[in-house]
Amino acid sequence: MKLEGRLSKDNINPHLLDIEYAVRGPLLQRAEQIQRELDKGVKKPFTKVIYANVGDCHALGQKPITFIRQVLSLVSDPECIASSAAPEDVKQRARELLADCTSGSVGSYSPPAGLRIVRRRGAEYLRKRDGGVPADVDDILLGAGATDLIRAVFQLINCPVDGKPPAVMVPVPQYPVFSGLLAELGVRRVDYQLSEDAGWALDPRELRRSWLAHAGDHALRAIVIINPGNPTGQVLSRENIEEVVRFAYEHGLLILADEVYQENIVCKPFHSFKKVMHEMGEPYASMDLCSLLTLSKGWSAECGLRAALAELRVCRDVSAVLGRARAVAQCPPVLGQCALDCVLRPPAPSEPSYAQFSQERSQIHRTLCARAAAAHAAFNDIPGYSCNTIDGAMFAFPRVEIPARAQAAAASLGHTPDEFYCLRLLEATGICVVPGSGFGQAAGSFHFRTTILHERDTFHHMLREFRRFHLMFREEFADEE
Ligand SMILES: Cc1ncc(COP(=O)(O)O)c(C=O)c1O
Repeated sequence: MKLEGRLSKDNINPHLLDIEYAVRGPLLQRAEQIQRELDKGVKKPFTKVIYANVGDCHALGQKPITFIRQVLSLVSDPECIASSAAPEDVKQRARELLADCTSGSVGSYSPPAGLRIVRRRGAEYLRKRDGGVPADVDDILLGAGATDLIRAVFQLINCPVDGKPPAVMVPVPQYPVFSGLLAELGVRRVDYQLSEDAGWALDPRELRRSWLAHAGDHALRAIVIINPGNPTGQVLSRENIEEVVRFAYEHGLLILADEVYQENIVCKPFHSFKKVMHEMGEPYASMDLCSLLTLSKGWSAECGLRAALAELRVCRDVSAVLGRARAVAQCPPVLGQCALDCVLRPPAPSEPSYAQFSQERSQIHRTLCARAAAAHAAFNDIPGYSCNTIDGAMFAFPRVEIPARAQAAAASLGHTPDEFYCLRLLEATGICVVPGSGFGQAAGSFHFRTTILHERDTFHHMLREFRRFHLMFREEFADEE
């Protein structure tokens, strides 16, 4: 190959250069370096790095749900079904899933939209969740994680309208999968600010402001709503959802309802966009909607198996095009689909696996509620911190006052104030969090995101360390008298 033909940063897809994903950004790189130093015996004020940057429950020590793993074990090794000591409902589930797999093997491709049995169970899950609102199996699309499905939707709307380039409305703060995928596709992101003072609610006036500011030179195609919120942890009220729906209707926007944390509810009822739209009646009930659920979150938290479900309510011509486009990638991982099936149809009270399943699921839920309450109380007790209640998801996103001298020190090093704060936190305590700027935050406000699902002792140690560090930091950078 001629040297001048080689790939360089100057001749590759420029959109990829624009992608930023702070959840695995420079803070994490430094954290991994520190851990390597510790492994070599370098002395630090702590003995190990505590990773609080990713919402990956299994990585933080959560045990897998036994029912899911038993089903996976039998579908992977069907010859063991007859002799297995697993409960009868596990065997039955494995047989049902295998009957829907081509030639009875999870090693064969499934249809591109996913196994029919899992999609049917998806429709049934949604129907039950929404108190009987019908769900059509033909609207159910499985993917290799919610990320895969979000990318598919963005690809679908990536089309100029009336000569204007497409754009998507995204909350601030947002989970950076949205900014990352939009950057990858070269679709413009149009921010709308969530209202921290109103518990991270969506303010319809802010939606209108943002729309007016950008609709002149962009074709706004969709609005993303993350409910429960990541990183912000709010659960939207029904009224607030109705306001968003009316706004989206008025402006002809597809609603992309990222509801992946719908099984991670601490307090406040979860209302799905689909149900609210249905109850609002026409014309809202038949608007374009894509809502998401993933195996990576909720009580299953099987992030590594890569499976998720979208209910995509658009006209059949459009879903047919998407269906053809998705066929190019063959199918989502079939083992992941089998695990997702267990989430969509968990053991029923009459079945032998129920007692253990229900005990495991309750334990996970109790832990989430206890951590959310403890984090909220601890952060609001630190001078200079404030934190909204954590209604759902698995993160705290406290706001932190950063003294002017610290902000100046950050600027002199080319860091944002919150990056500087998080780096200093990491160096002093070994705790790796994500600076608020990685998600977006109102100008002049500083935050960080921490996951709250570590095992009990580690979690309480973290809370004590946040406080100890912040008091030290404030003293070091206190304004001079
Ligand atoms: C709000 C939100 N949406 C989507 C995703 C992507 O999840 P998945 O692992 O299913 O791709 C995440 C992952 O953390 C998330 O927090």
